[in-house]
Amino acid sequence: MEPMGELKRTHDCYSITEESLETEVVLMGWVHRRRDHGGLIFVDLRDRKGITQVVFAPEVDEKSHQKAHSLRSEYVIAVRGRVRRRPEGMENPKIKTGMVEVACLELRILNTSKTPPFPLEEEKEVSESVRLKYRYIDLRKPHMVENLTLRHSVCQAMREFLNQHDFLEIETPMLTRSTPEGARDYLVPSRVNPGRFYALPQSPQLFKQILMISGMERYYQIVRCFRDEDLRADRQPEFTQLDMELSFVNEEGIMDLIEGLITHVFSRTLGIELNTPFPRLTYQEAMDRFGTDRPDTRFGLELVDITDIAAGCGLKVFNTIVEKGGVVRAVNAKGMADLSRKDLDVLTEFAQSFGAKGLAWVKIKEDRSWQSPIAKFFKPEEQEAVMTRLSAAPGDILFFGADSRSTVDRVLGELRLELARRRNLIPEKDFNFVWVTHFPLLEFDEDEGRFKALHHPFTAPSREDLDLLEEDPARVRSRAYDLVLNGIEIGGGSIRIHQEAVQKRVFNALNIGDEEAEEKFGFLLEALTLGAPPHGGIAFGLDRLVMLMAGRETIRDVIAFPKTQKAQCLMTRAPAHVSMAQLAELYLRPDWKQEEGQT
Ligand code: AMO
Ligand code: AMP
Repeated sequence: MEPMGELKRTHDCYSITEESLETEVVLMGWVHRRRDHGGLIFVDLRDRKGITQVVFAPEVDEKSHQKAHSLRSEYVIAVRGRVRRRPEGMENPKIKTGMVEVACLELRILNTSKTPPFPLEEEKEVSESVRLKYRYIDLRKPHMVENLTLRHSVCQAMREFLNQHDFLEIETPMLTRSTPEGARDYLVPSRVNPGRFYALPQSPQLFKQILMISGMERYYQIVRCFRDEDLRADRQPEFTQLDMELSFVNEEGIMDLIEGLITHVFSRTLGIELNTPFPRLTYQEAMDRFGTDRPDTRFGLELVDITDIAAGCGLKVFNTIVEKGGVVRAVNAKGMADLSRKDLDVLTEFAQSFGAKGLAWVKIKEDRSWQSPIAKFFKPEEQEAVMTRLSAAPGDILFFGADSRSTVDRVLGELRLELARRRNLIPEKDFNFVWVTHFPLLEFDEDEGRFKALHHPFTAPSREDLDLLEEDPARVRSRAYDLVLNGIEIGGGSIRIHQEAVQKRVFNALNIGDEEAEEKFGFLLEALTLGAPPHGGIAFGLDRLVMLMAGRETIRDVIAFPKTQKAQCLMTRAPAHVSMAQLAELYLRPDWKQEEGQT
């Protein structure tokens, strides 16, 4: 191992081009690859920015050529050398530094490396647990560097836009009380307050509202949020939001501003100019047409209701379901009548995995007659009515879902996505934004037998529905809006309640009694009586947004140190056991079994 000594890095491995020809440069980085070609040794030298080819030739420098024989992948080296044009036929037009190479005059080996646990090429399949255990190796991969660089640029562009629009970046506490966003809390015991716990914030919701009452007018924060919930590809126990709140605005004002923000971010970081305004759908339209409140609008295959026709047809299952208040809805899979029996079996299983009892289908033949196990139950005029409603033509296949509305929506919404994936109907490079508005304020939780807030309890009810709060809570719409990108919810927010009386009525509708409201949210209720301006805001899932911008399939690829499905960090091995002494200090008396070797 050698010191860097007086050597000073002059360039990175991306910026050496023909402009640097014949100059002497100093590069530092990692040995990406080494190739011996008879007398010459070639090293692809890699740093965060790129790769430059270094040549070790005995006639240029005997000593470094000798030393280069010992280089292995991931050794850390410094190279002083002269930039020269690559010999004809040896250029690599695929990379920016591909026309030149650096002829080494001096090599210093700054550190060696054991053979890395996996190669650094993206194409090579490596199990995610190994990638996460050796995250520092994984992050050296050029595409991971790109992802984190993009994330950085997105944050920069957000800050740039919001600063220009008069927002203040303000931090809110991490050790706080529970904020209800619908997930479980991560709790932190308080040593100096025996038996009491902080909760890590599920979001800064209450603090940002209080900041509006404080007169800050425009707040933002790029902030970590914590939710103890079941993990999926687009969920992590800790994740990052761009969180915002503004005073003296309505929905239009916020949506306008956000379109400006998103447009700025895309233009600045990807050079993509988005069209605004983004399309808007009400919750009802989204559910009717796509079966979900986060529709992927990059392709068609929309849902169509045929309950009225099915009610009178001869198929018993359909009749019974309609009589019980259920629905029958359908999707026209255009031109997909070539799906085989086996495909249909697989699709039926797929539908069943989302709760369907069956998946009826109809293939439309050349003469518009039906090929289907259920054909005989539909009279010719009923068949014609179904085909008209679904704009069906020969070569199409229609799928039917019959059940409660929510089950049918879930099943057909997922089926629609599956069909699109199978037939490559999804334009991968498109960015389709859509606002979803006019959500129900509350939804009934069958398990708990009470209403819950669809967003959170501080979301304002629509003014015109206010009187329904006590009469018919299920029908009250809210002033919430979500921003959906390619079928993924990337942001959500609302106009908030800014009057104490309304907040109390909503707590009531949520079955939160006065005492509980006072205990948990007394500070908010009181603040609402002390000059609260009308206000509203939104929060974006930064990880999800960057994931989609980077074209990745999981947010783990755009988070430096993500957790596994079991909420573990495989590198540091968190969460970990702690000593009994530490627990005692926190007044915690465990009844779980400590693993061997633990005190
Ligand atoms: P919400 O709960 O909708 O709203 O969260 C806002 C956005 O955060 C992202 N998100 C997540 N990303 C990764 N992992 C998770 N576990 C996770 N959970 C949520 C989503 C989501 O759209 N306080 C409100 C916002 C407001 O009303 O202003 C809130 O937190 O992209
Ligand atoms: P059956 O009468 O049960 O043989 O069903 C006839 C066809 O209707 C089969 O293709 C089933 O898969 C389908 N089917 C049964 N129940 C449902 C349902 N709830 N929704 C959609 N299709 C169904």
